[in-house]
Amino acid sequence: MLITKVKIDGFKNLSEISFVPDTYYNIIVGANAQGKTNLLEALWIMSGCKSFRGSKERDYIALDKSRFTSEIGIYDNFRQQKITYEMIKGANITKNITINGVKQKGTRNLFDVFKCIAFIPDDVEIIKGAPEKRRNFIDMAASQLNPLFVAHITKNQAVMNQRNALLKSILQGASDSSILEIWDKQAAHEGALISYMRDGYIKKLNGVCSELYSAISGGKERLELEYKSNVFKAEDFNEPCNAAAYEKYFNKLRETEDYDIRTGITHSGVNRDEINVKINGISAKEYGSQGQIKSAALVIKLAQAEIFMERSKEAPVVFLDDVMGELDENRQRFVFDIIRNMQVFITTPNESALLPDIKGKILRMNGGRLTEEKSDE
Ligand SMILES: Nc1ncnc2c1ncn2[C@@H]1O[C@H](COP(=O)(O)OP(=O)(O)OP(=O)(O)O)[C@@H](O)[C@H]1O
Ligand SMILES: [Mg+2]
Repeated sequence: MLITKVKIDGFKNLSEISFVPDTYYNIIVGANAQGKTNLLEALWIMSGCKSFRGSKERDYIALDKSRFTSEIGIYDNFRQQKITYEMIKGANITKNITINGVKQKGTRNLFDVFKCIAFIPDDVEIIKGAPEKRRNFIDMAASQLNPLFVAHITKNQAVMNQRNALLKSILQGASDSSILEIWDKQAAHEGALISYMRDGYIKKLNGVCSELYSAISGGKERLELEYKSNVFKAEDFNEPCNAAAYEKYFNKLRETEDYDIRTGITHSGVNRDEINVKINGISAKEYGSQGQIKSAALVIKLAQAEIFMERSKEAPVVFLDDVMGELDENRQRFVFDIIRNMQVFITTPNESALLPDIKGKILRMNGGRLTEEKSDE
């Protein structure tokens, strides 16, 4: 998958950006606070994802403007496609999105058209952060392989919101607890499916990660991911997701019902899952060194790219935000070896921190404006 054309205006500090990216390396160079990450972020949200650095939609639009517009051409195995994205500031935020000229209701279909992976300094949060960070990562990565998964996650979240609102209303005496069963049935259906999908993806990820991590650590260390479902035991996943699985999930929800009503929140199900990341058998989050945590996060992301590649026979577009400068030569080589056939957008304040053989299109970012420079090849 390739981005063949980029136009962005009014996204944060970006102004009148227009360029044709290189098929392989696009190196975005500039001093701090010039808009390098903004450029990656503007491209990234065109895949239908939220900002990778947690920016709110309202803050996407330049402070002195009332809208941003962007457009990208995408080329994949089959065809050339075009996405346009416009956001207008008003009492509310209006989003106008088209794919190949067809107006979209939301961002959902973007995910199917444009697949990308971003490596950002914050990735260490996958290891160090709260369980939610790991769940979100797994859900997003699994959704890239199977876009149907997104619908189950969205539905589950909607059902959970309804269920939690109902719990509060029961506590206040405004609703009857018998209605809970309706929501629990739906939650059981979605939740069991999500649990099985998570288990499947984590197993796949585990296989690739252990190989990559062994390579990056010179065979000295072992990385392992372990799915701790809040509902199912590891051996439950040997059976397919069937009526017995839905029932098990349903019963688990009923088990904590009294406590749920007293507190107004749901205490069981997929929103309580954990994914343990272990190095040499012990928790990376608790005991990992800085270097181990960075390497583990990097390997997990690289594994995601490899799995995606293997499955869809197509490469995702890769964004590397400021991560190369932190890696020594061996580790940089390791990364570039795995993403060798992918289109890459790299940001760096200092191009000399990159391996000398990484050559491509140099794009200079200065005050939100981009100028192209011929590489010295
Ligand atoms: N809504 C906005 N409108 C205008 N400018 C904004 C908006 N949001 C952020 N900016 C500006 O964008 C700039 C930061 O851009 P960005 O994070 O892309 O920098 P960078 O080039 O990646 O820097 P670094 O090398 O430090 O990572 C800041 O100057 C900030 O003021
Ligand atoms: Mg940056």
